[in-house]
Amino acid sequence: MVFNMEILDKIVLHQSAHHMELIKYLLVLTHFLFIGYAGLLLGSLILSIYFRNRFNKTNEKKYYLAVKKIIDLATFNKGASFTFAIVPLLSAMFGYSQLLHLTNINIALYLFWSAIFLFISLIFIYSFKYSIHLRDIFQFADQSNIESDDVKTEIQHYKSSTNILYLKSGKYGLFLLLVAIYFYSVASQLAVDLNNWNNNRSFFVELFSINSITYFLQFIIISLIITSLIILYKYFRVNSEELINDEELKSFLKNFSLKILLSFSLIYPLLILLNSFSKPVLSLSFNFFGLIVVVFILVLFIVSLTYVMLKEDSLKYVTSIVFIFFITLFLNVVKEQSVFDTSTKSHFAFLSNEYINYEKNLIESAGLLKVTVNGADIYNGKCIACHQFDRKLVGPAHNDVLPKYEGKKAELVKFILNPVKVNPEYPAMPNQGLKPSEAEAVADYLLANYKKK
Ligand code: HEC
Repeated sequence: MVFNMEILDKIVLHQSAHHMELIKYLLVLTHFLFIGYAGLLLGSLILSIYFRNRFNKTNEKKYYLAVKKIIDLATFNKGASFTFAIVPLLSAMFGYSQLLHLTNINIALYLFWSAIFLFISLIFIYSFKYSIHLRDIFQFADQSNIESDDVKTEIQHYKSSTNILYLKSGKYGLFLLLVAIYFYSVASQLAVDLNNWNNNRSFFVELFSINSITYFLQFIIISLIITSLIILYKYFRVNSEELINDEELKSFLKNFSLKILLSFSLIYPLLILLNSFSKPVLSLSFNFFGLIVVVFILVLFIVSLTYVMLKEDSLKYVTSIVFIFFITLFLNVVKEQSVFDTSTKSHFAFLSNEYINYEKNLIESAGLLKVTVNGADIYNGKCIACHQFDRKLVGPAHNDVLPKYEGKKAELVKFILNPVKVNPEYPAMPNQGLKPSEAEAVADYLLANYKKK
């Protein structure tokens, strides 16, 4: 790779097996959120640009109205867009750098670029959205009672720059968004393709691998399915029909969305298959195939319900389809993650072993061994040669000498650490070379176990 994200390596926390498990769950959630939202963003942008072009060609009002209805689907709030699109990418970036710490792979880098492109594309997409609404304002604003010529030229000026924005920003936004999603696809496929991790592949091979390309195409299909579903759900669910009052637009948009939904739901399984074939065989598992079967069954459900609705010209299953589709999407993410699981098993074992060593060193270096030292063990190892509780041996019976230490643990610890001559009937006790934490543990053990009189 051209340059490394070493900074991320530096902030990596040491991972215990439990942490890694947790991060894996969070990654599933992150991918699900990202695909859901970025999918809606992409689909609504594609469709609104398509309708805008139709409008430019035919001048039919319904297309223009459709542009306005659709572009607002994902761009309801700037803050939300950044939260749903950028934040998942950044958290996935940190998640992967934790899990794939000490490997050669650079998933975080691709996610980083994805976030950058997405950020810029959002600026264009919002400009596109505002240009559409501003255009209307200029179109219908009554300028006849404006006296000043200056104001009129100014209005003219803003009108034409709005128009340029309207014609250009959507396209730029779409291009950048596609690049962002492509980088995301490369990242998420690289994560599940660990066989190639350590063969330093060239940047281009990495970038244009078949699984990245098929995953990217799959993303586009998903985005159109989501968008058509959300159009149907938002504008045509029972009780929400008054959101569109133009009859022509209504029936056009309804049919159009149903057809998109049907055709892309049919293509979706094909792309899942293509993508699965391009996965490394070693990383496939029973879970993976099981999930594919479930996903296929659910998609079949969606296709047949949509077909029935088209035939009957009704929308009664829309809510159920939305529900089924998001479950499908979630399972699809879980499926990807199961490949990740399979192919990272050995790496995770390695990392959690690293962690155990790390933890041991940390505790030792902080003098915190108390956590693992056991007073009874030390006593039995070091003291029992000269002491018993009820009998004198080389040294005095503990039951005789400990009462004077009752409530004075610190003094007892001090004696154990540094024995001084006490009783002339006995020889001096040799220093046992214990650490403070060990001496304390033995003192606790003695005080708790001698016979209190
Ligand atoms: C080599 C034999 C020997 C070993 C091993 C030994 N001790 Fe002693 N210990 C003695 C003798 C001898 C005395 C009596 C010293 C004196 O009175 O000056 C003594 C005295 C003591 C006393 C009484 C001190 C007092 O104030 O009267 C305590 C408590 C004690 N030992 C705890 C320990 C503990 C805890 C260990 C293990 C970590 C230990 N000893 C290991 C020989 C030993």
